[in-house]
Parts: sequence; structure tokens; C-alpha cells
Amino acid sequence: MCGIVGYKGSQNAIPVLISGLESLEYRGYDSAGVAFKSGKKIEIVKNIGKVSNLKSLLNDDANSEIGIAHTRWATHGKVSVENAHPHKVGKITIVHNGIIENYASLKIELEQKGYEFQSQTDTEILCALINDLYETENNLLIAINKMTKLVHGSYALLIMCDDNLNELYAIRCNSPLIVAIKDNDYFLASDVPAILKYTNEYILLENNEIIKVDDKLHIYDESLKEINKQTIIFDGDSNDAMKNGYEHYMLKEINEEPTVVKNILDYYTSDGKFNDNMPSFKKYKKIFIVGCGSACYTADISKSLFEKYLNIPVTVYIASEYRYQQLFYDKDTLVIFISQSGETADTLEALRRTKNDGIDTLAIVNVVSSSIAREADQVLYIKAGVEIAVATTKAFTAQLTMLALLVLRMANKENELKYFEDLSNELNKILKMDFKKYAKKIYKHENAFFIGRGIDYGLCEEGSLKLKEISYINSSAFPSGELKHGTISLITEDTPVISIVSDENIKYKTISNIKEVHARGAYVLWLTNKDENGDFYDDKIVIRDIHEIVNSILMVMPLQLIAYEVAYLRELDIDKPRNLAKSVTVE
Ligand code: G6P
Repeated sequence: MCGIVGYKGSQNAIPVLISGLESLEYRGYDSAGVAFKSGKKIEIVKNIGKVSNLKSLLNDDANSEIGIAHTRWATHGKVSVENAHPHKVGKITIVHNGIIENYASLKIELEQKGYEFQSQTDTEILCALINDLYETENNLLIAINKMTKLVHGSYALLIMCDDNLNELYAIRCNSPLIVAIKDNDYFLASDVPAILKYTNEYILLENNEIIKVDDKLHIYDESLKEINKQTIIFDGDSNDAMKNGYEHYMLKEINEEPTVVKNILDYYTSDGKFNDNMPSFKKYKKIFIVGCGSACYTADISKSLFEKYLNIPVTVYIASEYRYQQLFYDKDTLVIFISQSGETADTLEALRRTKNDGIDTLAIVNVVSSSIAREADQVLYIKAGVEIAVATTKAFTAQLTMLALLVLRMANKENELKYFEDLSNELNKILKMDFKKYAKKIYKHENAFFIGRGIDYGLCEEGSLKLKEISYINSSAFPSGELKHGTISLITEDTPVISIVSDENIKYKTISNIKEVHARGAYVLWLTNKDENGDFYDDKIVIRDIHEIVNSILMVMPLQLIAYEVAYLRELDIDKPRNLAKSVTVE
């Protein structure tokens, strides 16, 4: 969601900024813009649509040593050139990620002072506010610091000022921002992929620290005292953010799953036992698991494993709902927050509420040093590497693996780690299977259903989400017993129904439901680890049955590959589905 890039240095800033934006395209956006020093003034170029549309407006010979750039995912105001960033008011030009919650009251105050606004954005109001403070203070550092006391909400901001176009300022609050230095080049970005081409070392800003780049990098704390900060080394390189021969990032990332699973096991276990990287946990009487989107579905899938192995109740919450409901937790409750990005606004706020109430928190996160990772009491990293495709795949499989390991750790069942040994091999076997043949029977339909019970219903939720987000097929997941209470009326000749059976206990019940839809003409694709024959399906995908602790991990990849192949046949933008953002940093 929105991408930010800033640069000052020895190279031509414009291609650096554009390639930075391209590496952040995966975050999701609908317009893009750039501002750079051009002679003695600032030049702003913006366009709606892809970064390539912005590029088409830039002169080939445009040259500059300093600039800021942005991809916008519309929140306040429609997708338009006026609403695209950068925004300029008076002497100040900014790009902004986040939301200014009190923009309406600030707008009234600024209008009373004579400001007029061209766009519908909260960002233009923030820009005017900084300009106003700058006019009074005549010092941009002080003006930015004063701005933090007046706004509520989240922001990552890059700022340039007409009075000194050789300087770049930046600040963040609850929206990520990093700075990296390579020789005499300075890079600012909302996310690591934008800098990986140049360096894998960066500094992460804390809320309301201010960056000033002139001939060097200065970082100021909230009292405007200059400070030094530690560099973080990213565990990877620019290859991680490239397609490496795959047609899509999504396919590349699915293909990385065997390695990711191995990475997790290598990191948390040694010689078939948990090592020191896996913390121990006290005995809890209750577990809550919180997340958004796919992260929440990993919890739905893992819930019954936690309950069975630990014999305690587990409640799964969608983070945006959790925040506003009565929560019956206490000192014997562990609340687990799952997030690939570690920046999802609702999950982060849910974590803050929980910590505020003094409850133990554990984060399961991919992005190292992200907000959720840093703020939770404990963190387990899922070691999945950079995930670029909007639709999560390898991080999902990694989250499921991590949760299964956590179950064993909390239940003191180290002996069951042996069931993880074959996971990577089995995933490699699934990668070799042909899913296109099933996709051909699905891709022309506008509706699809996923049915299953228990763990399999959790898998259905993820399979259905994957399909709808990248193929735009209207797909729904149902606990199969519910079908008869309404949904079955939607089943007509050839309607695709993907039915999942991995749990022996409910096999026959689900199969009865599959028969009901098959009898009504549905095209039934049966995904199972039970190698049984019958007349209730049209096609069958059989996955190895290893053990309940790992079986669901194997069932996910076929669902991801079916969604991929369907979207491929529909010739869609698989890595960047419309309207979606990889990291949802607004509530
Ligand atoms: C977005 C992504 C989903 C992801 C969800 C939660 O909607 O498109 O793939 O599951 O956010 O993101 P998180 O980074 O918290 O796992």
C-alpha cells in the first residue's frame, strides 16, 4: 500500500527513483509521481495507473541529483492526477504514506489562514500545515517536529523545500520508513526491496525521529538532538526481489516453499530437537490468534491442532474486529499475532490494545524488525524471505509450519518433529504435478465454491481467497455441512466445487456433501490425502498423508497453484491484482 522512495547522490536521481518505485509496485497502487530538483526549482510529474505511465511523461534527458517519488493507493479522494503525490503547497513538497485522521479540522484552520486546496487528499493538508509551520519557524527541522504535535494518524513522509533544494527531510509515525547509505548515495524508502539493488544495510527510523540529508545523513530524536543509529543487515540480496526466470513472482514464491520450510526447520531445530532459537512457553489456559486475510486463515487451520495437543480453547479473531469487541482474556492467555509484513495496521493496533491490557503477546512475522515484530513480547520469524506477489503463498506455508512447530513446542511433543522431515521433499513433488488441466475446467466460470469441514474448511477459506484475489472469480468457502442451508441453490451444471478432505474423522461426512453437489451437476475437484476411488468426483488430486501435525501444510500448495493457473488462463495481472495492496497500513 503506497510506496515511497527518496534519493540524493551522485547518480541521476530520476532513474533511481523510478526503479525504486518499480520495486515497490507489489505493495499495490493506482497512481505514481515524482518530484526532483530541476535547475533552481522543483519539477513535479504525476500520472494515474502504472509506473510505466509516469515514465512516459518524463523526458529521457531529465537529470537531477535529488528527488522524491511515490506510488499512491487511493484512500482520501479518487484516483486522479490531482490526488496523486507529490503534493506541493507554498515552498514545501511532500510524499506521504498513511492517513491523517484529523485532516478535516486542520483543513478548516488552514483555510481560515487563506490556504486553498486542489486535491481531496489528507496529504495536501499535511503539506500546507508543514508549510505554515515553516513560514513561522523559518527552520524546517523545527517545523516538522512541531507538525508531529498537531497531527493524529500515521505517516511516513519525505519532504523537500524550495529554499534549499539540495536537502531531503523524512519522518515516520506508525508507517515504515528506512534510510540506506551506499558511498555518497542516500536512499529513503518505505520498504527494503527499493534499496536492495544498491545495498542490504539500512537504518530503521523510530516514530517521529527526523532525517535530514544534506552532504551527509543526520538523524534527530524527538527533542531534536542529533543521534546515531545502528544499521540493520537484511538477510538476503537483490536476487530475492527478482523473478529469477519465473514468469511471475507468485510462481517463483510458490517454488520457494520447499526451501522456506527447510529454512524454518534449520533455524528452530537441530538434530530432531528444538534449539535455543525456539523459546519455551509457560502453560497458558487460553490462546487467542489474531490476523488479517490469509494470516487469519492460518490460524483457522491451526486452531484445532492447538486445541487437540494443548487441550485448551483457542479463539481466532480477524484483527479489525478484535479491536472493537469485548475480550475475555487474562494473565493466563497468550495472544498470537500473525502477519507477513509485520505492518498491517489493524493487527498492529490489536497488538497494542492487548499489550496495553497487560496480556502476553507473541508475534509470528516475516519482515524482520517490522513494527509488530518489535512491539510484541516475543517474536518467531518465519524465514520466508522477501515476498513480492500481492497474493501471499510462501509466507502462508511458512506461517502454517511455524504454527505447527509452536504446537509441538507448547505441548512438549518434540518427538513429533520427525514428521517434518519429509515436508520439503513432498512439496517438491507437488511442484511437479500438473494443475493446468484442472484450471482449464474452472477458468471460464464466474463462480466457484470450496467446501470442507474443520481444518479442511480453513484450507477452503485460503483456497477460495487465493482464487478470487487473482482470478476475480466470485469464489466462496463453506463448511460443507452448511451447503444445504442455502448455498446449494447456486450449484448448477459444471459449477466448479473444490472439495477438500484431509481429516479422517470427518471424511465420510464431507464425502456425503460432495455427493450432493456432484448429483446436481457440479464439476467436483477432490483434493485429498485419502487415496480412495469413488463416483462422487470428476477429478482427484492426491497428496501424501504424513501426519495430522503437517498434513495441512501440504494441502495448501495445490490450492495456490490452481489459483495461479486459473488466473494465468484468464490472462490477468497475477502479481498485482486490481485494488489490492500487499501491506495494508491503513485501518
Ligand atoms: C493483505 C494481503 C494479504 C495478507 C493480508 C495480511 O490483504 O494482500 O495477502 O494476508 O494483507 O497481511 P500481513 O502482512 O499482516 O500478513
